Amino acid sequence: MGLLRCLLICVTLWSNGVFGKSSRRPNIVLILTDDLDIAIGGLTPLPKTKKLIGDAGISFTNAFVASPLCCPSRASILTGKYPHNHHVINNTLEGNCSSTAWQKSQEAHTFPALLRADDGYQTFFAGKYLNQYGHAEAGGVEHVPPGWNHWLGLEKNSKYYNYTLSVNGKAEAHGADYSKDYLTDVLANRSLDFLQYKSSLQPFFMLVSIPAPHSPWTSAPQYEHRFNSTKAPRGPNFNIHGKDKHWLIRQAKTPMTNSSVQFLDDVFRKRWRTLLSVDDLVEKLVKRLEVRAELENTYVFFTSDNGYHTGQFSLPLDKRQLYEFDIKVPLMVRGPNIKPNQTSRMPVANVDLGPTILDIAGHDIDKTQMDGTSFLPLMEGKVNSSSWRTDVLVEYEGEGSNVTDPACPLLGPGVSECFPDCVCEDSYNNTYACVRTVAPSVNMQYCEFDDNEVFVEVYNMTADPYQLTNIAKTIDQEVLEKMNHRLMMLQSCSGPSCRTPGVYDARYKFDPRQMFPSRSRRLKKTK
Ligand SMILES: *[C@@H]1O[C@H](CO)[C@@H](O)[C@H](O)[C@H]1NC(C)=O
Ligand SMILES: *[C@@H]1O[C@H](CO)[C@@H](O)[C@H](O)[C@H]1NC(C)=O
Ligand SMILES: *[C@@H]1O[C@H](CO)[C@@H](O)[C@H](O)[C@H]1NC(C)=O
Ligand SMILES: *[C@@H]1O[C@H](CO)[C@@H](O)[C@H](O)[C@H]1NC(C)=O
Ligand SMILES: *[C@@H]1O[C@H](CO)[C@@H](O)[C@H](O)[C@H]1NC(C)=O
Ligand SMILES: *[C@@H]1O[C@H](CO)[C@@H](O)[C@H](O)[C@H]1NC(C)=O
Ligand SMILES: *[C@@H]1O[C@H](CO)[C@@H](O)[C@H](O)[C@H]1NC(C)=O
Ligand SMILES: *[C@@H]1O[C@H](CO)[C@@H](O)[C@H](O)[C@H]1NC(C)=O
Ligand SMILES: *[C@@H]1O[C@H](CO)[C@@H](O)[C@H](O)[C@H]1NC(C)=O
Ligand SMILES: *[C@@H]1O[C@H](CO)[C@@H](O)[C@H](O)[C@H]1NC(C)=O
Repeated sequence: MGLLRCLLICVTLWSNGVFGKSSRRPNIVLILTDDLDIAIGGLTPLPKTKKLIGDAGISFTNAFVASPLCCPSRASILTGKYPHNHHVINNTLEGNCSSTAWQKSQEAHTFPALLRADDGYQTFFAGKYLNQYGHAEAGGVEHVPPGWNHWLGLEKNSKYYNYTLSVNGKAEAHGADYSKDYLTDVLANRSLDFLQYKSSLQPFFMLVSIPAPHSPWTSAPQYEHRFNSTKAPRGPNFNIHGKDKHWLIRQAKTPMTNSSVQFLDDVFRKRWRTLLSVDDLVEKLVKRLEVRAELENTYVFFTSDNGYHTGQFSLPLDKRQLYEFDIKVPLMVRGPNIKPNQTSRMPVANVDLGPTILDIAGHDIDKTQMDGTSFLPLMEGKVNSSSWRTDVLVEYEGEGSNVTDPACPLLGPGVSECFPDCVCEDSYNNTYACVRTVAPSVNMQYCEFDDNEVFVEVYNMTADPYQLTNIAKTIDQEVLEKMNHRLMMLQSCSGPSCRTPGVYDARYKFDPRQMFPSRSRRLKKTK
């Protein structure tokens, strides 16, 4: 054996831990889906994912997103910040989705950028990034965000066929041939390729960001006829009129028209079919890590950017609402030091993913500007549930158009997303912020709207898990005032102040000076 050859092989063996116990830092894989709910059965078509990640590790039953819309939520994942700190407020360039302002102010401080620059990780991205990625006004597909050694970014929003990928800044066009172009499978194959060609000298981080089960809901041909007698679940809040809720919910027609119900049942089936390919991707990735003897030293996260609804409170289909179906997402994690088959009801949020992953890499998270907190101690059983933070913030800025939608003249200006037959799914005044609290003996939600009524919605999730009854008018006034105080504090928080004790934490301190001073100018609308 030549000296050079031995050198290469020996270094590889050493770094793989063959010579003595490996001291290598763990690898991390984050699998991110798009619009995958947990409240309306979204995990049912993913049995292999549940077995290979959830059963092999921990499943969180209270994982929330900081905003139930793709671009703001993805920005929260990448930056570890709430929307009021990363300033991505909707899915357009004007709303900072992949804008040059985002590139200048936030992109270099995302957790993957820190992993690469400070922690010596090799980083791989494949799939949907931010909805406007690749826009000519923001550098086109030539723009490769800092933080990524290997970049395979989908141009613009979710697709399954006929799309363009940026392969390290170079456009690669795809058609509609299943065996070459089906995007979920392309992402699976390229992820497996990365495991083959990556260096074995450094730990790696992979973000596999799959557009399924987002529209246009195109399944792989072998799954086209699956679930063909499945219907959207008729749960307690299906096709119910939300009578004590804010304007947007009150305007929805109940019962929905038969064509709306048919449409949403069809979409429900199509979403599940696209998930079968996601389940295959997860299996291939986990098996390949196992074959390469890397699974034991790899954390694998599985989650989504927001939830989804099909018929709840008579809204046919979309996200963007403050209710559990839209803000709660699946979150499962396996990895070294995580015992199998665990379930945790502790509240975690997508702003915690960056801090958790940096913590795994040994990064000093106190030196970052992130609002979230590492839940690694929770997964390792090193934190007492009574000392875990009790609440997370949810912020959403509603979209609307001042031009009357010709398909929806009855609703007038200020609304958007009217489908399938003129049921408004969003409006300017669907702008709200909520505190979602999960403490050892309390499970509740407090929300305020930026609309003409300064509407308040409060739910006791213990008594009313389907959010049928708004208790804002009947709840103890003192609780209401404290929750208002807490919400205002969180809406202006930054870094450590986002992690201060909540109302149901023994360490909470009430400062009456922050009570109700300015509810109506709570959220400054930029429109
Ligand atoms: C976009 O981001 C920049 C930089 O953070 C910020 O100054 C600006 O206000 C943001 N725009 C909107 C509409 O929030
Ligand atoms: C892809 O593009 C081709 C050519 O424009 C078109 O015929 C086909 O219907 C498209 N397929 C899908 C799934 O979008
Ligand atoms: C993925 O790889 C498999 C195995 O090499 C191949 O059969 C399949 O056609 C590939 N799919 C795509 C979409 O590239
Ligand atoms: C479901 O799909 C199969 C296979 O195409 C078909 O034979 C069957 O009639 C379908 N069932 C329903 C209820 O549509
Ligand atoms: C709508 O569907 C319901 C239940 O399937 C049925 O009873 C009703 O006749 C339908 N209405 C119309 C107008 O088709
Ligand atoms: C997890 O629980 C399932 C169902 O109870 C069981 O089949 C499986 O063996 C358990 N897995 C581990 C790793 O303990
Ligand atoms: C997105 O936010 C920007 C900045 O506030 C606003 O100008 C734009 O109208 C919003 N887009 C929609 C569709 O509401
Ligand atoms: C759009 O409508 C809102 C609410 O009626 C108003 O405040 C705003 O000035 C309007 N914007 C434009 C560009 O007309
Ligand atoms: C919300 O906006 C809609 C559409 O512009 C308007 O009709 C409605 O009166 C508004 N309601 C409140 C409470 O602000
Ligand atoms: C919430 O509901 C539970 C169960 O009914 C009840 O014990 C608790 O007092 C309620 N909390 C509030 C704040 O109403």
